[in-house]
Amino acid sequence: MNEPREIHLHDPQTLYRHWEEGQWSPWDFDLAGDREQWQAMADRSLVTFVLGSLIVAEERITTKFFGLVGAYGSEEEATFLATQQVDEAKHMQFYARFQDEVVSEPGLIAAHVRRAREQVSPAFRTIFDEKLVAAHERLLSDPGDLEAKVAFVTIYHQVLEGTLGLTTFEFSTRYLEREGLLPGFVAGYTKIHHDEQRHIGYGTWFLREALAAQPQMAEVVRATLLDLLPAVAESLTPPEGADSSVLGASAEELREFALGGLTRRLKLIGVAL
Ligand SMILES: [Fe+2]
Ligand SMILES: [Fe+2]
Repeated sequence: MNEPREIHLHDPQTLYRHWEEGQWSPWDFDLAGDREQWQAMADRSLVTFVLGSLIVAEERITTKFFGLVGAYGSEEEATFLATQQVDEAKHMQFYARFQDEVVSEPGLIAAHVRRAREQVSPAFRTIFDEKLVAAHERLLSDPGDLEAKVAFVTIYHQVLEGTLGLTTFEFSTRYLEREGLLPGFVAGYTKIHHDEQRHIGYGTWFLREALAAQPQMAEVVRATLLDLLPAVAESLTPPEGADSSVLGASAEELREFALGGLTRRLKLIGVAL
């Protein structure tokens, strides 16, 4: 298994400068070849599942983020968080464009999300509709509450982006590249992945700073993770009916990859699970 690239802990100002240097548009990619391949594909179930999960997750991640922008600790952090808000909306737009031009007919994002939601698992709903929403509302109601901010960043940056997101990217692009499938999608998804690494870098930086200032916050990180891990493990299991063997990776390998990365970041933050 490839070792994920090491995560460097840049401060928000450096991360903002990286954002300025890495601009891209969801319309940079030619999807005509992807559409031809899609129409000729015999079994679309697994790819449909992955694409659906991505657009549903990205809608949640875009609309349940602004509470963190308002909970900034410095002007530099406020700047970086504003860029992350834009990135998430851009990612949602890329997945929606892919639905418009390859998978389905052009429609509003809400229509694509509604269709994709029919296939997501109960564990997925627990994570994105209950835990994330509750943590976001708590932070919105009191942006100065450090414990609420630590819990939110633990869920959002460490679990959703760092664990579910990186794992989904690793195994689905491995599969698509091996099969020579959907090159336009892979090119856009790779840009998204670079953005995500910047976001996860911020989340790891923030938690390390918060725990250095207030060591008792380690308990908040630990409790938040323990609360979420059963649903995370469940949602990393491919759906019933989808032929997961075509992925070329076992459920075990998926979980190992996911938890290995999380454990390495927790070490940087100063938390042992
Ligand atoms: Fe994203
Ligand atoms: Fe992100």
